[in-house]
Amino acid sequence: MLRIPTIFKCDREGLVLYQQVAEQLAEHIRTGVFAEGERIPSIRKLHQQWGVSQSTALAALSALEAQGLIEARPRSGFYVKALPERLQVEEHVPAPVAVSRHQLINHVLNQSRQPGLMHLGAAVPETVFLPQEILRRISNRCLREQPGLITDYAFPPGNKTLRQQIAVRMQAAGCSVSASELLITQGCQEALSLCLRVLAQPGDLIAIESPAYHGLLQALEALGLQALEIPCDPARGMDLEALAAAIQEWPVKACVVSANFSNPTGSLMPDEHKQRLVSMLSEAQIPLVEDDTYADLHYGRRQPHPLKAWDREGNVLYCSAFSKTIAPGFRVGWVAGGRYHQQLQQLLTVTTMASHALSQQVMAEYLHSGDYDRHLRKVRRQYRQQLHNLVDALYASGLPVAWSLPQGGFLLWLILPAEVDALAVYEQMLQKGISVMPGSLFSASERFRHCMRISIAVSQPDWSLLVAALRGSLTD
Ligand SMILES: Cc1ncc(COP(=O)(O)O)c(C=O)c1O
Repeated sequence: MLRIPTIFKCDREGLVLYQQVAEQLAEHIRTGVFAEGERIPSIRKLHQQWGVSQSTALAALSALEAQGLIEARPRSGFYVKALPERLQVEEHVPAPVAVSRHQLINHVLNQSRQPGLMHLGAAVPETVFLPQEILRRISNRCLREQPGLITDYAFPPGNKTLRQQIAVRMQAAGCSVSASELLITQGCQEALSLCLRVLAQPGDLIAIESPAYHGLLQALEALGLQALEIPCDPARGMDLEALAAAIQEWPVKACVVSANFSNPTGSLMPDEHKQRLVSMLSEAQIPLVEDDTYADLHYGRRQPHPLKAWDREGNVLYCSAFSKTIAPGFRVGWVAGGRYHQQLQQLLTVTTMASHALSQQVMAEYLHSGDYDRHLRKVRRQYRQQLHNLVDALYASGLPVAWSLPQGGFLLWLILPAEVDALAVYEQMLQKGISVMPGSLFSASERFRHCMRISIAVSQPDWSLLVAALRGSLTD
């Protein structure tokens, strides 16, 4: 008999109950606890054994059915289907590829920024999700008290108070870092680029998640690095068996991972995987670049641990930013570079030389004000609600689509039927006034052509418009 899953007790409380049940059952299917063709617990059993209401159990089973994981057989129950190809984690390790995505990515990003669209494309929160008013007040006060800030440089390693504030937050998430081990960068993108430049030379191989954040692919391309795309599970992130095989087979120079709510799937790597990943790469002496941009947007009660929390040897180069939570335009990010700190600082000094003092000071004072946690509580609630509404709309639509179940962040990965070209769907949706991100932007090798990423960080979205546009494109 299955016990009540721990998921109900600890780290995934942020999901609505039926999603928790669905996610737990999906986990059992993915890990083979329920084999293909096997009958899974009935509504009555879920009610009796898992302690959830019959309607919650029904909603969970229906969600799994909509995702193609199970099928209802009349008067018999729900059975595990053969995993549709589109949801399976690939087992083989792909060969390294040179990246050539910049033109397509730039084209889509430029189109998606046009005014007047329903902006579900770029991962940029609309201003209602940012603490604009309080930042304006702090900026005014800073300028009154220190007029020079409007023109001043902030030299590396960056504003000391800001680094102290960040160090306190990282310590609370389980990392043992101090302010002196941090460098302030121009957003997370600069932090990632600096790490790659310190760690690798043109032609080198970098293991990345598949699908991966398109800005990372662009950085690899600009630096002449090759991508080794490691398959990822939409819920649990990178497949560590595949990574282990890849580092045996290829001379991997570094690995880049977003363990907490990856872009685009929103996957969250379980703690035991995080621990294993950090020790595997440390033993193999392969530096691990962590992109933790979305960690503050967790839907559960507790902040998930970063990979850095298990780093004992300075092998993890931790990158993050406040671009998704406070102010994208401030360009305030940071890197805790472990044993590469000095090299990173030198490179930062000769490339950027200095940043704008005002945005760093305002960010420091904003963090010090204590408003950030209150703001995060509010936006997490809002994103969670938006996500539930979107999932409900997709589920009710009956469209032949599947989706990831993110546990944080504001991105949803939508999986269309395998034969659909999401780039064509994207163009048609643009004509209908909706921008999304086609899936091929997230792979160096034409994977995910039938997927798309949707940002839910939009104010008062009318999901029926998205559903109607999708329906139109899928039935054209
Ligand atoms: C996963 C991830 N990393 C890094 C970045 C870059 O962030 P920033 O604007 O701080 O440079 C983004 C932005 O979309 C992102 O989604």
